[in-house]
Amino acid sequence: MFQNLCGKDKTYCNLYDGGWVSASSNAYTDIFSPVDGSLMGKVPAMTRDDVDRAVRNAKENLPIWAETPIHERARVFYQAAELLEAHATEIAQILTMEIAKDEKSSVYEVKRTADFLRYTADVGKSIAGEAISGDNFPGGSKHKISYVNRVPLGTVLAISPFNYPINLSISKLAPALIGGNTVLLKPATQGAISALYLASIMQEAGLPRGVLNTITGRGSEIGDYIVTHPGIDFINFTGSTEVGRHIAKLAAMVPLMLELGGKDAAIVLPDADMDFAADNIISGAYAYAGQRCTAVKRILAQDDVADQLVPRLLARVTNLKVGDPRDNAVIVPLINTHAADFVMSLIDDAIAKGAKVIAGGKRNGNLVEPTLIDHVTTEMRLAWEEPFGPVLPILRVKDTQEAIDIANQSEYGLQSSVFTNNLHDAFFIANQLEVGTVQINNKTERGPDHFPFLGIKASGMGTQGVKYAIEAMTRPKAVVFNLDDHTH
Ligand code: NAP
Ligand code: G3H
Repeated sequence: MFQNLCGKDKTYCNLYDGGWVSASSNAYTDIFSPVDGSLMGKVPAMTRDDVDRAVRNAKENLPIWAETPIHERARVFYQAAELLEAHATEIAQILTMEIAKDEKSSVYEVKRTADFLRYTADVGKSIAGEAISGDNFPGGSKHKISYVNRVPLGTVLAISPFNYPINLSISKLAPALIGGNTVLLKPATQGAISALYLASIMQEAGLPRGVLNTITGRGSEIGDYIVTHPGIDFINFTGSTEVGRHIAKLAAMVPLMLELGGKDAAIVLPDADMDFAADNIISGAYAYAGQRCTAVKRILAQDDVADQLVPRLLARVTNLKVGDPRDNAVIVPLINTHAADFVMSLIDDAIAKGAKVIAGGKRNGNLVEPTLIDHVTTEMRLAWEEPFGPVLPILRVKDTQEAIDIANQSEYGLQSSVFTNNLHDAFFIANQLEVGTVQINNKTERGPDHFPFLGIKASGMGTQGVKYAIEAMTRPKAVVFNLDDHTH
């Protein structure tokens, strides 16, 4: 059933106008598995001409899709959800090998994506316009009525990251498509094969031709050209703050949604349940080897709290399964050598400046041991930079206010956790934290996917979450009826 695999030797193609094409240059990028270094396949390195063609095609098909009744768009989504679930194991195996995500989490990612599709279809079907009477405003009249409906923005460029190639592609595609937009998907190069399977599912489910086109190719080579293409009406990007900032500068007047990096803090108060906090912090920090925007990336706690937490965290870190994602290891090889080099540079800097390694601290190739580091100070890079790897620093603070201050001094503002049994303290701290979301007594995390999900400061712009993303990628269209006043 999968047509994205369109040649011999594991050659993949891009979805274009309902068919599968290679690059006009016939150039490819090899995709190797971070698990065992094996060649997984090759994806087309699309050229500028290919981008022009794909955008033109998406624009040509926009009027038909925009006119397609929402309940018919929704039907495609329900079908795609069924297909994803039917092929979950197969697609999860590809995910596992392409991005080294453990099998259980890979299956979960595919099933979560099916749920996302169904929920988006349901929300899409309940989108309703409104009629506003002119007499609500002083001097207005009942004979002036604004009829307001939501219409698509046009062609949306969706750029997804390596760590959730399926789920963070659908979190852009589905709200854009249900809103009547056509979409150009540019997936992360490492993750592109998985994303092409998703595109294949959407096509098989009945998405009309040219409503979704894909563009593979390295962001460093083709990215700027796509982002600045005059045919793009909205850019929905998830990835690093560095690339997000670069895109924001280039985008000029094109509206943007940016989901970027984070440095989520877990603030643990003296009255917290320490075992509960340790369980949450460990799964929040180390799942998928810490390669999640929402990973817990620092602990802020007073001395006596830190002293209680350290042995509990150590016991749990030691029990984390390290190794092969096919064996459901939690700590898996990082996405590439550069990522592991970067994580090690943060660890080395902290050690050199006097931090104490409680666990881990070493690497073997791309595999970095789960690392817990105590006595990290604000002079160390690890206090501020996002490792995107399995390393968790503990910063000891003198009181709650210092924890809040250090949390807020970060350039990032994605999420924070507060662990306490005192709801008054939780409320007080939550109100002061400069982040998109505060989790009380839970690890930082994105889901459930209908909640608003957003970062402030260097963590992003705009709000995700099904309903919010549909609103962001549609706009109100007002038609004002000026009716005769028959009373005169
Ligand atoms: P990345 O290196 O910034 O890449 C993200 C995407 O941007 C990829 O598709 C990449 O393509 C593309 N790209 C690179 N340069 C581009 C350019 N000049 N123009 C257009 N696109 C370009 O990020 P990543 O390594 O995949 O993901 C890790 C980062 O994403 C972390 O910082 C993490 O915190 C963040 N993230 C944030 C969220 C959130 O919701 N806030 C969610 C997930 C991840 P190539 O792969 O071809 O380079
Ligand atoms: O990496 C960023 C994802 O949006 C995180 O999602 O919290 O469900 O792992 P998650």
